[in-house]
Amino acid sequence: MIDFFRRHLGAKLFLSYLVVILVGAVILGLASRLTVPEAFNSHMGMGLGLGTGQGMTPAPALRPGASAGMQGIGAGRGMVSDLFQSFQASFNEALLLALLAAGVVAILVSLLLSRSVIAPIRVLTVASQHIAGGHYAERVPVPGADELGQLAHSFNQMAEKLEQVESMRRQLIGDVSHELLTPLTAIKGSMEGLMDGILPASPETYQQIHQEADRLARLVDDLQELSRVEAGAYPLDIRPVAVSTLVNTTLKRFAAQAQAKLIILQADLPADLPPVLADQDRFTQVLTNLVGNALQYTPEGGQVTIQSTHHGDEILFSVVDTGVGIPAEHLPHLFTRFYRVDKSRSRQAGGGSGIGLTIARHLVEAHGGNILARSEGEGHGSTFTFTLKVAK
Ligand SMILES: Nc1ncnc2c1ncn2[C@@H]1O[C@H](COP(=O)(O)OP(=O)(O)O)[C@@H](O)[C@H]1O
Ligand SMILES: [Mg+2]
Repeated sequence: MIDFFRRHLGAKLFLSYLVVILVGAVILGLASRLTVPEAFNSHMGMGLGLGTGQGMTPAPALRPGASAGMQGIGAGRGMVSDLFQSFQASFNEALLLALLAAGVVAILVSLLLSRSVIAPIRVLTVASQHIAGGHYAERVPVPGADELGQLAHSFNQMAEKLEQVESMRRQLIGDVSHELLTPLTAIKGSMEGLMDGILPASPETYQQIHQEADRLARLVDDLQELSRVEAGAYPLDIRPVAVSTLVNTTLKRFAAQAQAKLIILQADLPADLPPVLADQDRFTQVLTNLVGNALQYTPEGGQVTIQSTHHGDEILFSVVDTGVGIPAEHLPHLFTRFYRVDKSRSRQAGGGSGIGLTIARHLVEAHGGNILARSEGEGHGSTFTFTLKVAK
């Protein structure tokens, strides 16, 4: 029995309503017992000392031996006392009946009330079991704005998040297998061509195969880096960093590549640039990603510039290029993994798999900054800007 109450919230609620009803009934009984004689006295217009207890002291006029001629009064007193007894009996009877009626109604109402509280909780329980079973589309109705309503609302939010994560996971597996399949198919095709003697066993053929294998290796590297970055499984040693040295290192690293493409690669930094709060290696990684893209998507004779400006407690870093630009409808998606504006173009151009900017975004956000892309449209160049906090 106790176990039943312990395991059922509805039973507990009902029990607590029942306790309230019982306490109410007991108080009603006690209070009427104490107050009825006094009320009777005062309504009969004289103090006759009926009953016992407080507030029932007989009026001075009725004290024994107060005056002569007490007989008449004594007889009246007996009559009133009988009257009171009958009155009390009928009052008790009426009270008992009223209490019974009120009790039954109260019990019914409390049953209904505890059910109405329990019903949404039951719905939540069933829905969460469905979700645990992998049915992420499950939602529950929100019953009003009280705590239960809030619980249902948060439950729905959680279910939606889970659904998103699940669909992202599916999408990721699809994307990864597709990305892996493309170079693998190329390698397999070339190999078959070689075996069948359709393709000549020339250095070009081998180089082609090597290139595809290289793509595969880079993709796997990128994926590993992405999973590390997404899981936050990398050390982040944030401290004041003088950025001009880091920017110059990046410029040097890409100098040969820029020269080969006849692109002017330069930095435009203010002389009094304060140090920023950043992890040196991760900052360089973001910059490398952005400059690498800029060089990749800028044709010969173009220009790539690393700029920085100081705004309040932030420093904005921009990588500006005069390259192919990005149509406006693609801008919001660039930082989503595997997103490429033009899949075939970036593949031919030796581009990656659309992971670089996703990694960059994660790294910038881990520093508490933002990253965004701007472009005046196709053929009008692109600008990628990220923010970092100034070291005080
Ligand atoms: N500087 C840029 N100019 C034009 N398009 C760019 C530039 N940087 C990135 N993009 C576009 O954003 C996509 C995603 O970039 P990224 O995540 O680095 O992937 P990818 O591996 O293709 O370089 C690229 O495929 C390209 O379409
Ligand atoms: Mg890239």
